[in-house]
Amino acid sequence: MQQKLEEIRVAAKAELAAAEDAKAVDDLRVRYLGKKGEITAILKQMGSLSAEERPKMGQLANEVRADIENAIAVAMSEMNAKALKLRLEKEALDVSIPGKTDEVGSLHPLNSTLNKLIDIFKSMGFDVVDGPEIETDYYNFEALNVPQDHPARDMQDTFYLTENMLLRTQTSATQIRTMEKRTPPIRMICPGRVYRSDDVDATHSPVFHQVEGLVVDKGITMCDLKGTLETMAKEIYGSDTKVKFRPSFFPFTEPSVEVDVSCSECGGKGCRVCKGSGWIEILGAGMVHPKVLAGCGIDPEEYSGFAFGIGLDRLTTTRHKISDIRLLFENDLRFLKQF
Ligand code: DAH
Repeated sequence: MQQKLEEIRVAAKAELAAAEDAKAVDDLRVRYLGKKGEITAILKQMGSLSAEERPKMGQLANEVRADIENAIAVAMSEMNAKALKLRLEKEALDVSIPGKTDEVGSLHPLNSTLNKLIDIFKSMGFDVVDGPEIETDYYNFEALNVPQDHPARDMQDTFYLTENMLLRTQTSATQIRTMEKRTPPIRMICPGRVYRSDDVDATHSPVFHQVEGLVVDKGITMCDLKGTLETMAKEIYGSDTKVKFRPSFFPFTEPSVEVDVSCSECGGKGCRVCKGSGWIEILGAGMVHPKVLAGCGIDPEEYSGFAFGIGLDRLTTTRHKISDIRLLFENDLRFLKQF
C-alpha cells in the first residue's frame, strides 16, 4: 500500500506537469482526490490493515493527499495566470494602428452650385418650387406659346412617352403650373432635371439641369430682370464679372435675351473654355409674353413679369473649371472627392 501511495504521488505530479489548461488540472483533481478518486480508493482498503500499520498508512495517505492538493493548487494558479495573460494579449489594443474613420461624403458640385443659387434667390425673396419631370405637351409647349408645328419645337428634341406625355425639355413648364395655382405677386425658382434627345459629348447630355425663375407683379420691367440676373451672376462668378444681355428669341417671352458672363477662365481674353469669345452663355430670359400670362388667368394689362432659365450644368462646369459635362454624371469618386 505504501508503494501504491508513492506511485500515485509520482504519477499525479507527472500528469500535473503535463497538463495544458485549467480543465486538465481540474480533471486530475477529480481523478486523484475526488470521492471516487484513487486516494479515496486506497483509504477504503485501510480496514484490511493491521492495527499497527493503519495509523502509519493513514498518515502517509494524508501526506500524499496534501502533497497532491498543494501541487494542484500551484498548477491551477499557474493555469489561471497563463489564461489571463493570453486573454490580455488577445484583447490588447495596438494604439499605433491607424484608426478606422467613417468616410464623410461631400456635396455633388451640381448640388453645391444649386444650393448657392437657392441662397442667392432666397435672399431676394424668391421661394423654391418643384415640378414634375413627366409633363404633358400642354405645360411643356402649348401654354408656353409653342403650339403644334411651331418651329421652336425643333430647337428641343423631345422624348415623347405617349402622344401627349413627354419628359420635360425645360423647367419652364413649372412657370405655368405656378401661375395657375397662385396669384401675383409671384417670385419663385424651380430647379430640376430636364431631358432632350441629344447625343452625348463634352458639352451635351440627354439629361441636364435647369433652374427656372419667374417674377410676376404689378410694374415689373426689364430693369428688374437685369438687376436680378446681374446680381446673381456676380454672386456666382465674383463681383468684377461682366454681364452681357444679348437680344434673343423665346416664344414665351417678349422681348427675350440671352445672358453671357465674362469668361471666368481667361477673364474675357478668349480661351478654350469660352471658345475664344471671352464670354460664356449661362441663361435665357425675357419678359413673360402677355399671351402666356393671359393663358394662366393673369391679366397682362394689370401685371407683368420676367422669367429666366439658368443652365445649371454650365454654371457648375465653368465655376469649377470642369472641362467635360460627362464628369458630372459618371459618379467617379476620384472626381467627386475633389469638391
Ligand atoms: N426654357 C429655355 C430653354 O430651355 C430657357 C428660358 C428662356 C427660360 C427664357 C425662361 C425664359 O423662363 O424666360 O432654353
